[in-house]
Amino acid sequence: MSSLKIESIVLDYSRCGESPVWEEKSNSLLYVDIPSKKICRWDSLTKKVEEVSVDSPVSSVAIRQSGGYVATVGTRFCALNWEEKSLSDLFFVDKDKKNNRFNDGKVDPAGRYFAGTMAEETAPAVLERHQGSLYALFPNGTVEKYFDRVDISNGLDWSLDHKIFYYIDSLAYSVDAFDYDVQTGKIANRRSVYKMEKEEHIPDGMSIDTEGKLWVACYNGGRVIRIDPETGKRLQTVKLPTEKTTSCCFGGKDFSELYVTSARDGLHPDELSRQPEAGRIFKITGLGVKGIAPSAFAG
Ligand code: BGC
Ligand code: BGC
Ligand code: CA
Repeated sequence: MSSLKIESIVLDYSRCGESPVWEEKSNSLLYVDIPSKKICRWDSLTKKVEEVSVDSPVSSVAIRQSGGYVATVGTRFCALNWEEKSLSDLFFVDKDKKNNRFNDGKVDPAGRYFAGTMAEETAPAVLERHQGSLYALFPNGTVEKYFDRVDISNGLDWSLDHKIFYYIDSLAYSVDAFDYDVQTGKIANRRSVYKMEKEEHIPDGMSIDTEGKLWVACYNGGRVIRIDPETGKRLQTVKLPTEKTTSCCFGGKDFSELYVTSARDGLHPDELSRQPEAGRIFKITGLGVKGIAPSAFAG
């Protein structure tokens, strides 16, 4: 039995850290700070963070097979050239919704970049409801819109056999599943596989492990939970030293470490003094489970 250890990896604070993605070839953790409009890359060997600033809130980042990255910036799917620190637009969504922005995004096992939108908030989780939609950017450059009326489009992942798509619309307080056709990217038969308990608060980002269980970051809950999507039961709770835990991904050697992002925005000064690590990125070791490598955008 190894023992659980939680440490923060970067001393900088994110206003709203999100979208952690482990990149094996650079031994790095990618993540974004949404309101700071920054895409960051923490090198696990040098412990240094490199940043690229963009012109609008950036809500997710993913690896691109042809090199560089893709990101969701404002309401745009973009390509990011890391060396030149330059963005180029690939596709605009929600053109009729001036107050919207993208939120979480992730690449499916076939290389499609899924990401959903939401209305901009006036305070965390306070926003005009039903304004978001779920989209995917296909490798051929076209975009599919799956559904609308989303409140806060959030965590996504796919089952190990690629037959299920897991999805979180945060204000439904549920982790949902769809049947998934990885050949076509089609989804069907939405159902709930886990209902959040009161003290778990708002479901945010998530990541699957090699046993097919889901790790869900609980916004305002200060924890990540491991749930079994087949039984609807929670298997484990790991508490973090700050309440606004936003997302998680596996990384490090053999994907045996869990990285957890967090937010500082929305905390009052007295809350911040009780949780001085709010906004940091945490590394959890000793969990005894592993994750899988992230898929890369194939376009
Ligand atoms: C990419 C690599 C990346 C790896 C792990 C692959 O699909 O081509 O660049 O390091 O995924 O994320
Ligand atoms: C969003 C935040 C939101 C939080 C809680 C995050 O994914 O980016 O803006 O407050 O979820 O729902
Ligand atoms: Ca999120």
